Amino acid sequence: MSLTERAGLALLRAVDPETAHGLALRALRAGLGPSGGPVTDVRLATTVAGLALPNPVGIAAGFDKNAEALGPLLRAGPGFVEVGAVTPRPQPGNPRPRLFRLREDAAAINRFGFNNDGMEAIRPRLLAVRGQGVVGVNLGANKDSADRAADYATVLAHLYDAADFFTVNVSSPNTEKLRVLQERAALEGLLEGVLEARAGQAGPAKPVFLKIAPDLDAAALADIAFVTRGLTLDGIIATNTTLAREGLRSRHASEAGGLSGRPLFARSTEVLRTLVRLTEGAVPLIGVGGVSSGAEAVAKIRSGASAVQLYTAVAYRGLSLTVEIAQALSDHVRASQVSTIAGLVGVDAG
Ligand code: FNR
Repeated sequence: MSLTERAGLALLRAVDPETAHGLALRALRAGLGPSGGPVTDVRLATTVAGLALPNPVGIAAGFDKNAEALGPLLRAGPGFVEVGAVTPRPQPGNPRPRLFRLREDAAAINRFGFNNDGMEAIRPRLLAVRGQGVVGVNLGANKDSADRAADYATVLAHLYDAADFFTVNVSSPNTEKLRVLQERAALEGLLEGVLEARAGQAGPAKPVFLKIAPDLDAAALADIAFVTRGLTLDGIIATNTTLAREGLRSRHASEAGGLSGRPLFARSTEVLRTLVRLTEGAVPLIGVGGVSSGAEAVAKIRSGASAVQLYTAVAYRGLSLTVEIAQALSDHVRASQVSTIAGLVGVDAG
């Protein structure tokens, strides 16, 4: 970690977490972040659902909701960045405070509720960095929408030429009744609508992923695997934040919202393993939840993830963490005597 990054993180700890995150994005825009470009390494280059990634360490949705610092983020080390959630119309989200640091638990709780500038404002920001790296859009629905399922297709169609992949996010705990869209019949209808919208776009089909909650039981995960395979969706991102609250020490532990960071690691990794089994390894998976070190990224990949994403640990430790993790993955590939990271995907899933 550079001195600038260390000093910046120390300063940011002194202000409330949402303000700190906004300042961090501004600092990135001002050129204060790492800027060596995405880590490139023959051992780490990989293809996930047709997406060619320079390395498998991504920035998760929510970090740059409005694509405000996308260029600098793509230059800071990660192999891909997912922006959003983006909804058709702009919306303010829930009242502040709505983001809490649980420092003792290396975790965070947020209840943002899809605050974002809306697809029309975000589109030119995506176009401005086209070709500079792999970018995904996390699709969301407006809180007051009359047809939430249709919102996902609307955002995909509007931003289709401006990004490389799309994620159907029906797993945010912060929009009331959103997660009912994960239930089999609703999910099928919603995904059919999104895939139909994709079919109507010019050019080759871009991957569509489904992002799921970690709080689903075995039967719900089986339904998701069934629907994903039936509709030939491109992949699953596991997982979003959790409603669970076991074993926390921080004074903010009982705030409402989704918990992210270290306490999410075990459960989100177990979900990966279950999905590998349920899909017989046929569906590409992206692992997210509590990754803060090379060892945890290795565990996600060996459990079945073709790539990983990070949010909370980067908020605590800075973007150079993505470079550190990529380096650790490369070392692990070499030590495992496989030629590339793809050779390690799912080796411990069974
Ligand atoms: C998120 N996350 C998230 N996910 C998503 O699909 N759409 C979103 O808009 C957001 N927004 C968001 C805001 C904040 C403040 C946080 C902390 C998280 C979830 C995120 O992408 C990721 O799935 C979880 O945070 C788990 O990963 P980490 O943070 O444990 O690495």
